[in-house]
Order: sequence, then structure tokens, then C-alpha cells
Amino acid sequence: MTETGSGSPLDQHEHWESTLSGHPDMYGLEPSDAAVAAACRFREVEASSLLELGAGQGRDTFYFVGRGFDVTATDFADTGLEAIKTRAADRGLVLRCVSHDVRERLPFPDGSFDACFSHMLFCMALSTAELESLASEVRRVLRPGGLVAYTARTTADAHYGAGVYRGDGMYESGGFVVHYFGPGLVERLSDGFEIIDRFEFSEGELPRRLISVTMRRL
Ligand SMILES: C[S@@+](CC[C@H](N)C(=O)[O-])C[C@H]1O[C@@H](n2cnc3c(N)ncnc32)[C@H](O)[C@@H]1O
Repeated sequence: MTETGSGSPLDQHEHWESTLSGHPDMYGLEPSDAAVAAACRFREVEASSLLELGAGQGRDTFYFVGRGFDVTATDFADTGLEAIKTRAADRGLVLRCVSHDVRERLPFPDGSFDACFSHMLFCMALSTAELESLASEVRRVLRPGGLVAYTARTTADAHYGAGVYRGDGMYESGGFVVHYFGPGLVERLSDGFEIIDRFEFSEGELPRRLISVTMRRL
């Protein structure tokens, strides 16, 4: 049954810190299918510098590093970033980790990346206005012609509608707030980009239902 929540939609920072701290391999060690597909796309445009938003514990980060990308991994959960740094040091790998909340301006100069990847970050506790700002920031830090590949859970997901409604397409369940992408949201986030690919796919045991979007900066 759906309840209607009150109060602010939630600072999820502490929740993610403790969740990632308590579950060292929350999403496993293998790369996501989304990352594997994105790496192929990025290679086609000879991308080298890659910004990853919402890197979690780095299952995709290390895949990109292994494929030769120059990776900058960001997340607002320092516990996740510390796990990435430890694993990188153990393996003698080089990458940058930057602690950052995507509700704030990205801490990088204009045009500083060839590509941006983000798996299941856009469907976090971000209002539509915050998502529009984030898309605009991604556009700013990409070079002209640069690619962004992001994924988000959709209203086709089995969890959509379950838990406490937090407004603006967001539901809270088990302490996690998810913004389920419905019709039209992908287009709203494409200002200044050309959408070059989009498809729906499933991941995990639920399974989560997601949309994958790849856009080129105009
Ligand atoms: C569903 S997890 C996905 C993690 C990783 N991309 C993966 O697939 O393994 C979402 C990640 O986004 C991060 N996150 C959530 N809200 C954020 C925000 N406002 N700014 C930065 N990171 C955020 C969480 O800490 C978490 O690591």
C-alpha cells in the first residue's frame, strides 16, 4: 500500500554511508551490463577521460580503468570511495576519487571530460529540477561531442508505487528513496544533447527495470 509522506525528501547521505559500509560488495565485483555497453560506445568516439557519477563501491569504475580509461570516480558516500581507493592501492591502479553531492555544481572545469557514465544515480533522491541541473552540469563538463551514458529505474519497476510517496515521482522503501523515471523525463534531461540511444533492460534478482540513455553533447 502506498502512503503519502510528509517533510523533506530526505537527506540520503547517511543512509548510503551506512549501507555501503555494512555491505562491502553490495552490487558485486563484476561490471554492470550498462558499463560494458557504455565502454564500447565511449571507445567508438575515442574517449579517454571519463567521469563516473555515483560510483558506489566501484564495480564499474575498475572495469573502465581496466579498459584503459582515465577515470575520475565520484560519489557522496565516502565509505564507497574509501573502498575504491583501497582496492586501487592493492592493485597498483591509478584513478581519481572525488567526494561530491550531485545536487551541487560539479567541481570540474568546462569541457574537461570526453565521457560521463552513471549507473542508477539519476534515479536517486533527486527532484526533477535537481536532475535538470545535473544534466546541465554534465553538459558543461563534457567536451563538445562528448558522450554521457546514464541509467535509471523506471515506472515499469516492480517496486514502483510501493512505500512512502515523497513527491515528484519518488518513493521511499526500506530507507532508500528512488525517483522512478516516467514518460517524458528523459527528454526533459536532453537539453543541449542529442539522444543517440535508449533502451530498457533488467538487472538483479527483483529484477530492477531500468532505462539506459546515451546522449552526445551538441
Ligand atoms: C544504486 S547505487 C549505484 C552504485 C554504482 N553506480 C553501482 O551501480 O554499483 C547509487 C549510488 O549513488 C550515490 N548517491 C546517491 N545520491 C547521491 C548524490 N546526491 N550525490 C552523489 N552520490 C549519490 C550513493 O551513495 C550510491 O553509491
